[in-house]
Amino acid sequence: MTEHQIEINFKEYISLNELDKASHALCLEAVKAMESSHSPYSKFRVGAALRLQSGKIVYGSNQENVAYPSGLCAERVALFTWGANHADDPIEAMAVTAATDEFELLKPVTSCGACLQVLAEFEKKQNKPIEIILFCNNSPVWVMNGVNSFLPFLFFENRLNAEVKGL
Ligand code: THU
Repeated sequence: MTEHQIEINFKEYISLNELDKASHALCLEAVKAMESSHSPYSKFRVGAALRLQSGKIVYGSNQENVAYPSGLCAERVALFTWGANHADDPIEAMAVTAATDEFELLKPVTSCGACLQVLAEFEKKQNKPIEIILFCNNSPVWVMNGVNSFLPFLFFENRLNAEVKGL
């Protein structure tokens, strides 16, 4: 038996003011994105903003539904908007923020597994990692370089290809 350890590195900043200009600006866009959250059920607003290579910003916010599973997280709304409209313009970074009037968020909100899986798909599609910036109003800022920081054992579709081709 061999025991293995995986190290995950990420950066923590005390506040948005410590970030470089482009990241700081993207975080403010995520706050703007949160305004369109449709979250009458959870009362938990989430905003996501993607900065593309061209400088264009793509927005997403969580969209809930009375039939609960029909709703979608902010990250996937933004990522699928990119996939449908801007897939030739690579994503450099994604900023995500959340807020609720119900309690205080003292830590950044980390994306759910389904959103990470979609992020992984698009990193692969564009062949470039996406910087992920997570923060809330009263929290530090976490900066991760690519989905691998969250899912080191991610399922890769090229394993399927290998099987199909009998490699
Ligand atoms: N939500 C997001 O939009 N992103 C996340 O990363 C986690 C959760 C949304 C889904 C739902 O509308 C609400 O937050 C509560 O789970």
